[in-house]
Amino acid sequence: MTDKADTKLQIADLTKSFGSLLALDNLNLDVQAGEFIALVGPSGCGKTTLLRILAGLEEPDLGGIWIDGREVAGPGSDRAVVFQADCLLPWRSVWHNTVIGLEINGRLDARNREYAMSLLELVGLKGFEKYYPWQLSGGMRQRVNLARALAVQPEVLLMDEPFSALDAQTREIMQVELLRIWEQGKKTVLFITHQIDEAVFLADKVVVLGRRPGRIREVLPVTLPRPRPLEIKRTAEFGHLVDTIWNLIEQDVRQSISEENARLEIGAD
Ligand SMILES: Nc1ncnc2c1ncn2[C@@H]1O[C@H](COP(=O)(O)OP(=O)(O)OP(=O)(O)O)[C@@H](O)[C@H]1O
Ligand SMILES: [Mg+2]
Repeated sequence: MTDKADTKLQIADLTKSFGSLLALDNLNLDVQAGEFIALVGPSGCGKTTLLRILAGLEEPDLGGIWIDGREVAGPGSDRAVVFQADCLLPWRSVWHNTVIGLEINGRLDARNREYAMSLLELVGLKGFEKYYPWQLSGGMRQRVNLARALAVQPEVLLMDEPFSALDAQTREIMQVELLRIWEQGKKTVLFITHQIDEAVFLADKVVVLGRRPGRIREVLPVTLPRPRPLEIKRTAEFGHLVDTIWNLIEQDVRQSISEENARLEIGAD
């Protein structure tokens, strides 16, 4: 079914430990070009570790990552990362935060300036170029963060719970915005979330990781039609998918919590 020629990102036999703690255990995943993948799994199962390895910020112990058949050995402008907390520089305006990656890569020419401006318009921040992060709401800051990541025109967009700090309404608006942007450029996206409904709403496939050490439990295709309006969240098919995924990880989440509690009790003695 999957055509090797279209494989954008290949994760092969990825293993990572921190001291004696095995965080990722022989993880394998192929991602097609333009695919939107959501990663869900219990806390501590290695999602962020995987994303950091994909970003080139962390080295695996075994196995590796290939993009277009080239092995990844460090950060590169083919990938951009959006973390949970916005990483805006407080002394830079919206505009100067948006173009920082272009500036660092020496690519801030007229065409890229124009593109960056169009991204600010796309995320609804036209007119706010001269504002500073402290003058923006959380949702606006996270939208600048998204524009900043997209400005370098990455082929792969890596997102680690990017909307989790936002209120429910802003979060839904951001989900719709992200899909709109993705549908225009069809980047390959890996999106980590704890919210199963967010994963189902956004993704072509939901990758469910089991509890530590991180292993893939299941890859579920989301066949909901696109473009997806927010109302799709109220359909039976959507609810069914969310239930299926929740059932898959419920056991793991409960076990993680009880282990966590056991650790705390031991610590309290
Ligand atoms: N730099 C590090 N040094 C030591 N241990 C680490 C380091 N980074 C992660 N870990 C451990 O690796 C495991 C996986 O962590 P990771 O942050 O990848 O989990 P996660 O799935 O992103 O969790 P969450 O959903 O809570 O964000 C955890 O047990 C964590 O304590
Ligand atoms: Mg994490």
